[in-house]
Amino acid sequence: MKLTINGTGYVGLVTGACFAEVGHHVLCVDNDAAKIKLLKEGGIPIYEPGLEELVKKNVAAGRLSFTTSIAEGVQKSDVIFIAVPTPPQPDGSVDLSFIERVARDIAAAMTDYKIVVDKSTVPVKTGEKVAETIKRYCPAKVDFDVVSNPEFLREGFAVCDLMKPNRIVIGVRSQRPVAVMKKIYTPFNAPIVVTDINSAELIKHASNSFLALKISYINAVAVLCEATGANVQEVAAGMGMDERIGRPFLNAGIGFGGSCFPKDLSAFVKIAEQIGYDFHLLKEVQRINAGQMERFVKKITDTLWVLKDKKIGVLGLAFKQNTDDVRTSPAIELCQRLQKEGATLRVHDPKAMGKARAILSNVTYVDDMNDVAEGCDALVVATEWDEFKKLDLERARKSLSHPIMFDGRNLFDPGEMGRLGWIYKSVGR
Ligand code: UDX
Repeated sequence: MKLTINGTGYVGLVTGACFAEVGHHVLCVDNDAAKIKLLKEGGIPIYEPGLEELVKKNVAAGRLSFTTSIAEGVQKSDVIFIAVPTPPQPDGSVDLSFIERVARDIAAAMTDYKIVVDKSTVPVKTGEKVAETIKRYCPAKVDFDVVSNPEFLREGFAVCDLMKPNRIVIGVRSQRPVAVMKKIYTPFNAPIVVTDINSAELIKHASNSFLALKISYINAVAVLCEATGANVQEVAAGMGMDERIGRPFLNAGIGFGGSCFPKDLSAFVKIAEQIGYDFHLLKEVQRINAGQMERFVKKITDTLWVLKDKKIGVLGLAFKQNTDDVRTSPAIELCQRLQKEGATLRVHDPKAMGKARAILSNVTYVDDMNDVAEGCDALVVATEWDEFKKLDLERARKSLSHPIMFDGRNLFDPGEMGRLGWIYKSVGR
């Protein structure tokens, strides 16, 4: 099938590459000329495992191409996806100006029936607004359908999540686009859920808010574990064996971050408020998340007392492992908090140092994780990168003035760390 995708960010580019991989012909559109130039030259603007190979392979096979022209995208395909940013506004609501702009541009170029599919995370009822906008701004007054098809990919696992999705959600206002949408997704062998547009939009915000709630729940349980000498990982393992609960997203730590959960929670709270419902439960999820950072910083200051003139090594800057994304990263927030307390930082991240440089200054960026502890008073783990588990602990212990580690992601075993001579403080254990 011939598909067009507007937006070449995390969602748009990975979706485009995966659609091409299963045999569709995909044209990716972005108004950022520099990004399109880079993609045309074989460059990839983001780090995402497996993406580069996928893009190169499908460009070479002639199934994936790039343009800055929305009009070209609309003319060449029957199905036009919208995967543009929906950033938060200062009051927590969503800025839908990119969606509205693209909807108008698509409308202006439409000369025959098109299916316009929203993949971006948007508040409930946005599909209705997109339909009104297209109707208003389409000079040819052609027939069209708007579909809501939310994306559930996780950064760092985006290719994998897209190629093997748990479910595909398709929100429609008539049956007409259903067959085409199902055909697009048949190669992915996933259950397809067809709903009305408002329900599809709600599924996305409700899912992300629930996952954030799950993390905050285990973080609250971690507080109880710390106070009672229990171990939150054992509690999570025991809870997770109940299949109604499940083990994923029960990892306690310094709280969730990234470009989805914090933003989607605020948006969902705001959407509820506008409808007249006080979603207090989700406000509590936000409060618990902020509290995790507070408690972790306190753990550091309680142990090191005064941070002024102390040197701290920080492992991790990305908001989670397997990504170079530092947007709303708890690791960056932690660094900034430590700097504010007067600490000097030596930092390392396997993939995110490039992007971190733009937002975190006055730190020493260290290329090798095993050099981070050099001359430091303590070591902090801020991101759950698997490779940090391979840290040369003996060398790090000897490099530090005192062998103190604050592990905000519970990567190491407390008993083992004690035996190796560390003063080891983690979360909920
Ligand atoms: C999330 C959703 O998982 C995805 O379905 C949605 O479409 C987009 O938002 P993403 O933000 O890429 O994906 O990352 P995710 O893996 O969900 O992690 C989000 C944050 O939660 C990270 O900061 C991570 O470190 C934290 N987290 C995750 C925990 O603190 N504990 C956990 O158990 C899981």
